[in-house]
Amino acid sequence: MNESLVLSALALAALAATLPMARRRMQLSLAKHPSLTGHARMAKRVAALVPGYGYDEARFFGSDGAPESVQAARRIGLDRLGAEFAARFANSLAATEAAREGISDLRFTSSYRVPFQYAAYLRDHLKIGAFVQSAEGVKLTDLDGNEFFDLTGSYGVNVFGVDFYKSCIDEGGHRVRALGPVLGSYHPCVVDNVRRLRRISGQDEVSFHMSGTEAVMQAVRLARYHTGRSHLVRFSGAYHGWWEDVQPGPGNPLPPRETYTLREMNPRTLRVLRTRRDIACVLVNPLQALHPNAAAPGDSALVDGSRRAGFDREAYTHWLHELRQVCTERGIALIFDEVFLGFRLAPGGAQEYFGVRADLVTYGKTVAGGLPIGMVCGGSHWMKRFREDRPADVCFARGTFNAHPYVMGAMQVFLERLDTEDVRRRYLNLDETWNLRVEQFNSRMTFEDLPVRAANLSSVWTIWYAVPSRYNWMLQYYLREQGLALSWIGTGRLIFSLNYSAADFDAVLERFVAAARRMAADGWWWHPQGQTDRAIRRGLLLEMLAHRF
Ligand SMILES: Cc1ncc(COP(=O)(O)O)c(C=O)c1O
Repeated sequence: MNESLVLSALALAALAATLPMARRRMQLSLAKHPSLTGHARMAKRVAALVPGYGYDEARFFGSDGAPESVQAARRIGLDRLGAEFAARFANSLAATEAAREGISDLRFTSSYRVPFQYAAYLRDHLKIGAFVQSAEGVKLTDLDGNEFFDLTGSYGVNVFGVDFYKSCIDEGGHRVRALGPVLGSYHPCVVDNVRRLRRISGQDEVSFHMSGTEAVMQAVRLARYHTGRSHLVRFSGAYHGWWEDVQPGPGNPLPPRETYTLREMNPRTLRVLRTRRDIACVLVNPLQALHPNAAAPGDSALVDGSRRAGFDREAYTHWLHELRQVCTERGIALIFDEVFLGFRLAPGGAQEYFGVRADLVTYGKTVAGGLPIGMVCGGSHWMKRFREDRPADVCFARGTFNAHPYVMGAMQVFLERLDTEDVRRRYLNLDETWNLRVEQFNSRMTFEDLPVRAANLSSVWTIWYAVPSRYNWMLQYYLREQGLALSWIGTGRLIFSLNYSAADFDAVLERFVAAARRMAADGWWWHPQGQTDRAIRRGLLLEMLAHRF
């Protein structure tokens, strides 16, 4: 063989070796969601290019080219709200003002309630309070004695109503008081908790942590340890806490290298899982069933009217079954992250609700009866942190406050109550109840000719807007005026506790209608003839480019 033949043969061999790699790489690219939520690195690069600027008064009211008369109505509306808030919420506002510069969280959240262009003007003209003094039933009371219907659900912790949690904490504290905050050994109530949790989760073992973020970290770490593989798969838009590896896009200064963000409910993702050898686990947050592949719908991203949501239980159940099958075939750990939804859909959580058993399940939020918690439940094979045959090869995970007696006490009360007739009854016809309420909401809004709609996954709601407007985010302020409390992400996520009676719900609906009527009357939903969401986004892009260059 002459030299050139050898070289050609080598080149061919090299090509043959790289072809499967190239094919796998291509499969991976095809399994990404086409939006920015599917391209975390690109999203991060794009986010870094977005210029910071704020609208002056003229642009604040007229960013959509509204005529003078409409702008004037908006200005009057905002001034009225501002004056009313200043008078009605004086003490809450004073406390917020005093604390704002000193609480990093507050500085952050108060800057991201609305699209950033509007934030500075709004902060000067329409202040809202971040403090409340008491809670009872389905209501919160602020420092001025104003009552609000609580639609925040305490980030999802509040499933059964605030009084339920108050008494879990009181009774739990009473049970463990003799031991107090002694750490390192267990209070006896832990035995009972573990017994109940094993039954509820259908898993062999439990580990206690201090937050949902930590529970997810530990579940992923165990999956990597037992599979010897590097990568975790998460789905576009899904939140799993703020740990680096599960938050590869904007928000995380250091992008992780061992995370694949793939498209949920898509066969191309299954192909990737079937063919790659480096995948340790797949993380599922079942809340995404309400808006697959989209990020949590915060009002700061509400720049137009394109937000949509909708839950298809059958389709999502089918998807989870498909995932289960491929994970089993490939030895990949299927992790259900039930930190948010656990115990909200069914007493046995999303596993029970969708009829799919995961390898590892994370819980948090509600399960400690109102105290801080994160938990992993899993099969003993997955949960084991050491190997007898290689004793130095351990999967280390500890935490000073894990299994804190007070947390365990409140958890015991929570879990006991979960087994009572009274609490079991609350799960009866749960979906029917909340689906009917959404129908009632939507028909009323349609009847009133108001562009506000709701979509739900049981008692978790998203408000969307049937109007291509740049000002939909204003609704959160009109809702506050009507005594409805939302969390800082605004109308994208309403969380109802299950103790909302029909009368409570009717009252909320009436207030929604009143808020939307006022917002309409103040001109915020005016829009040019033929306006589309796409045109709004194009205009915004041009505006940003102009600010950038
Ligand atoms: C699905 C999911 N996983 C993890 C977390 C993180 O939990 P924590 O805020 O307790 O760290 C959250 C919090 O909202 C969540 O919704």
